Amino acid sequence: EKGGYDHFMLKEIAEQPRAVADTLLGRVGADGLLTLDEMRLSDQELRDINKIIVVACGTSYHAGLIAKYAIEHWAGIPCEVELASEFRYRDPILTRDTLVVVISQSGETMDTLMAVRHAREQRSRVLAICNVNGSTIPRESDAVLYTHAGPEVAVASTKAFLTQLVACYLVALYFAQVRGTKFGDEISQIIAELAETPSRIEEVLETMEPVRELARSLADERCVLFLGRHVGFPVALEGALKLKELAYMHAEGFAAGELKHGPIALIDEGLPVVVVVPSPLGQRVTHEKIVSNIQEIRARGAKTIVIAEEGDSTVEPYADALIRVPAVPTLLQPLVATVPLQVFACELATAKGHDVDQPRNLAKSVTVE
Ligand code: F6R
Repeated sequence: EKGGYDHFMLKEIAEQPRAVADTLLGRVGADGLLTLDEMRLSDQELRDINKIIVVACGTSYHAGLIAKYAIEHWAGIPCEVELASEFRYRDPILTRDTLVVVISQSGETMDTLMAVRHAREQRSRVLAICNVNGSTIPRESDAVLYTHAGPEVAVASTKAFLTQLVACYLVALYFAQVRGTKFGDEISQIIAELAETPSRIEEVLETMEPVRELARSLADERCVLFLGRHVGFPVALEGALKLKELAYMHAEGFAAGELKHGPIALIDEGLPVVVVVPSPLGQRVTHEKIVSNIQEIRARGAKTIVIAEEGDSTVEPYADALIRVPAVPTLLQPLVATVPLQVFACELATAKGHDVDQPRNLAKSVTVE
């Protein structure tokens, strides 16, 4: 049932183009706009929402961090993102016009479920983004948008994450459509770009051999850092989490802008640092800043592993290893930039002889607090 792959994780990484396409399926009308009636929130309810709080754990939380950029940029609604385990033990200011979006692959994560209950007790509406039909979290929520990743067996989340991103983009765009914060043709344009991402992900998957080789060469390292900015920051966090859980290595993700506020002190001769570079066109200013970060850390001895858009030649002189991803609109970059990091972690863990499908100490769904 691993379909010819050595591990479920490899199979699930390979399934990502299909998973993304399936999550879009049936949600785009002939006019190129979204039809999300399945969400069970009326247009009036969507117009009344004045704040969104996204709540999740682990990898799903990283999807939430990316959702914030899309929701604020496209829909113009203030958005906060919080870990479920923190959200429920503070006193968030929630009203009927706050939408709490919970993201959970399994639909059974106890902390996230408790956050749903906490939000509903305060009369907020809850929208669940979930991969398992009829699981507890969607059952207890007001509305649900299912991801169609198919069953995810490997403990480390891969295809579910990419489909969560798609669902988040759809929610942000749907708000923009209903509230009129973007013109219809802009929305259909973005949706058309989104519909192209399965083939972009396919392209990434076809060029992973050098990434595997690189991963194997780093199997004896003790620590790997990950840097990113804008939507590349949560991608860096996700890359670090994958490496921790699979390779049992110290791995940490930072916002590249924070480097000089502390983390740069960690840079030492030979330390591998993965940098997720924003698009030079879509993110001109942050791109420039991150290129100088790469120069700074390299001057201090870091081994720079750079993930950059095809055609971005500015990074070439400073990259010890260069991983190319196709150019896509800035907000969609996580859909392509995360994939090499999944492959990297999986291969590095395999090189160390670890069971990538069943990492030590971890369970697929965390049904205790
Ligand atoms: C990481 C991973 C976990 C889950 C987290 C939330 O690879 O799988 O961090 O993302 O336990 O699980 P769900 O999404 O099922 O609520």
